[in-house]
Amino acid sequence: MTDKNWWKNAVVYQIYPRSFQDMDGDGIGDLRGIIERLDYLEKLGVDVIWLSPVYASPMVDNGYDISDYRAINPLFGTMEDFDELLSALHSRGMRLIMDLVVNHTSSEHPWFQEARKSRDNPYRGYYIWREGKDGEPPNNWISWFSGSTWEYNPPTGDYYLHIFAKEQPDLNWRNPKVREEIFDMMRWWLDKGVDGFRMDVISLISKPEELPDDPRGDLSPYCINGPHVHEYLREMNEKVLSKYDIMTVGECPGMTVEQAKIYAGFDSGELNMVFQFEHTGLTDGEFGKWTDKKTPLPALKRVFEKWQTGLFGESWNSLFWGNHDQPRAVTKFGDHSPEYSDLSAKMLCCCLYFMQGTPYIYQGDELGTPNPGFDELAHYRDIESINAYRDFVDSGILDEPTMLRYLARTGRDNARTPMQWAPNGGFTTGKPWISYGGSTRAVNAEMQLQDPDSVFCFYKKVLELRKSLPLVREGSFELLRPEHESLFVYIRRFEGQTLLVLCNFSAEWVTLPDNCRPASGTPVIANYPETARLEGALLPYECRVYIV
Ligand code: GLC
Repeated sequence: MTDKNWWKNAVVYQIYPRSFQDMDGDGIGDLRGIIERLDYLEKLGVDVIWLSPVYASPMVDNGYDISDYRAINPLFGTMEDFDELLSALHSRGMRLIMDLVVNHTSSEHPWFQEARKSRDNPYRGYYIWREGKDGEPPNNWISWFSGSTWEYNPPTGDYYLHIFAKEQPDLNWRNPKVREEIFDMMRWWLDKGVDGFRMDVISLISKPEELPDDPRGDLSPYCINGPHVHEYLREMNEKVLSKYDIMTVGECPGMTVEQAKIYAGFDSGELNMVFQFEHTGLTDGEFGKWTDKKTPLPALKRVFEKWQTGLFGESWNSLFWGNHDQPRAVTKFGDHSPEYSDLSAKMLCCCLYFMQGTPYIYQGDELGTPNPGFDELAHYRDIESINAYRDFVDSGILDEPTMLRYLARTGRDNARTPMQWAPNGGFTTGKPWISYGGSTRAVNAEMQLQDPDSVFCFYKKVLELRKSLPLVREGSFELLRPEHESLFVYIRRFEGQTLLVLCNFSAEWVTLPDNCRPASGTPVIANYPETARLEGALLPYECRVYIV
């Protein structure tokens, strides 16, 4: 507790409570389920849990639409369950960070229920209102969940802004009362003992006064890193964050290295680190995130190199392949075929977690869980996916099979299927709220805990190893052979010690270029047995780490 920078050594595990463990048989995961699984998390080597929202919510966006910030959704349990979880974690020396969703509330939040009543309601200034233009919305911005970003409100005769669903009205951060309400609520949770926050789309909270049309209807240039965002975060830090021994991570779509150093520079007095999405967004294109393209390796390496070297000594990286908004890591960046699924899941673990930063593991990735392979719209539950399907297919821009292929590749529900605890599922005794899909039942915790060669045991080893090596926390980063199409090779250096990480991102064996060959010795970790390894080449999806 004395190390103020404990979050630099911490391993964070993200729990999407809906899909983690159900104890009451309603098919939806709950807080008691998490308490039940703490041994598992401790065994893996987890220090901090990031809990996706468990607050009161009508669940239009699975809890990212909050109607009461100080109440637990009965679907997940009670405040007593929450308190029990928190103290169970603390007694194990683990910590808990909450998801702080304050760019918007639910439209059912009492503030919005009041605000929408009349123009002179005291809560009107909590949200963002504009007059329409000749019966049309105030501008041409398109919501990130489809349709206009404006919704007409009959009682007031004008429109409110919502970057996400119309049930998620954006809060007006210009209003000091809004900021005070949020800061109060944060203090309330911190006084309860929570250990920090993951801040949902925090780079979006400040909107310019002028909300002009955009040539492409894109709101990003105006709302990402808006004019006052740093002022608000510094105020939050000064009034709240700095008073507690906590960690903070800001989810920041559209982030650049230069901006990240302001949000999370060691001396900037805002946050500890940011989640940026440059590496996950490399396949974005003509239809936004909807695609079935594979990430080109040279581009991926360049992005990691840029962030590893760009933040070095000035800020701190969040290391993640996936979260509840991304497809499964092994499907997106590896190879989920039965032959290579485990090998590539281990390789991805090695590749990422020997870099500098705080590791984040999204539930199930430590088992190598693949996308479920949903093949019809009826399997999907996610508002973003369902709306996008309607947009693209109903308008004839994409045909149905193509859109279904894209959804199965990049849709958010790919990461939201239930945790597979046992060969028969083990998530619930009822009917799960979303199906497991076709992902193989062999990918389950019960079997992997007993198998020393499992993906789970490999993750555990990597996490132990990185904790034992100050070099992983402190060392510099050098990328070798950036242009190579299949190899991801890098070196970390610290106080005369060198770490060499070799990864093959392809299903072919690849000769190691001269400057990538280890001088000698045995790897400290590898995903093939010694007898199978070749001298100067890497086998399909092989990874090895050497210390020199
Ligand atoms: C963040 C969350 C996502 C949610 C959105 C709106 O990106 O991670 O799940 O839909 O914000 O709150």
